[in-house]
Amino acid sequence: MFTMSEAILLPVVEEKRFANDRGDTWWLRPTIQGAYLILFGFYAMWAVAIDFENYDYELGDVHFISPFFNPDIEVSWWPEGLSPGLILIWAPLGFRATCYYARKVYYRAFFWDPPGCAIDEARAHDGNYRGENKAPFIINNIHRYFFFLAFVLAIIHSAEFISLIFQGGLSTGVGAGATIILGLDALFLSLYVLSCHSCKHIIGGSMNRNSGGGLRKFRFKSWKIVKTLNERHHVYFWLSLTTILIADIYVRFGLAYGLLL
Ligand code: FES
Repeated sequence: MFTMSEAILLPVVEEKRFANDRGDTWWLRPTIQGAYLILFGFYAMWAVAIDFENYDYELGDVHFISPFFNPDIEVSWWPEGLSPGLILIWAPLGFRATCYYARKVYYRAFFWDPPGCAIDEARAHDGNYRGENKAPFIINNIHRYFFFLAFVLAIIHSAEFISLIFQGGLSTGVGAGATIILGLDALFLSLYVLSCHSCKHIIGGSMNRNSGGGLRKFRFKSWKIVKTLNERHHVYFWLSLTTILIADIYVRFGLAYGLLL
């Protein structure tokens, strides 16, 4: 047994920030993803809050609307001069900001905490790491409630696309491009929402067994579909973000500003 004076002192190795044995460019992905999210955020802020006069366009009988403003609601108490897009933007914003995959992206890209697998953290937590158990990140636990709102939004975007088809959106010349991109927006938004982890849990999470008939069988089959979609959740996250962006640019610049007419 050692006494304090006999104890062996090991050399203190100073930990280096981001120390790792990875030989790849691990920093590239969070950097690109972070830059894309920043660009998207600035564009969305400008499109929704500032340039809110040019979000839709009528071509003959067909009404095209940017997905940022869909559903297009009007409320009498809303102050004049304030963008109507702000009435509901908190719903898709909250859904995306609390998405499990988005959390991974922005924790890595913006906080570098951790910046990647097998990479040392930027700062030591000294045993006081609370993660999402205390403010502000505990708010991320409301993601399951945002799911229901996003589910309704996905239905609205899909209904809008179907209505465009029936209005003749594919035979309006330049409007055909807007119809197609709005269709892709509805498709990828729906896939993004249906592949959500909360959706998977709501459908099959509380089942103790998956055998049996009726509702149990239906839930199990649905859960297997959602589980398959869930494996590509990250892909749908980026695709849906990108099609929203392209659809807004197409409607706003192509049609509303007349660059394609
Ligand atoms: Fe990503 Fe629900 S986990 S949207």
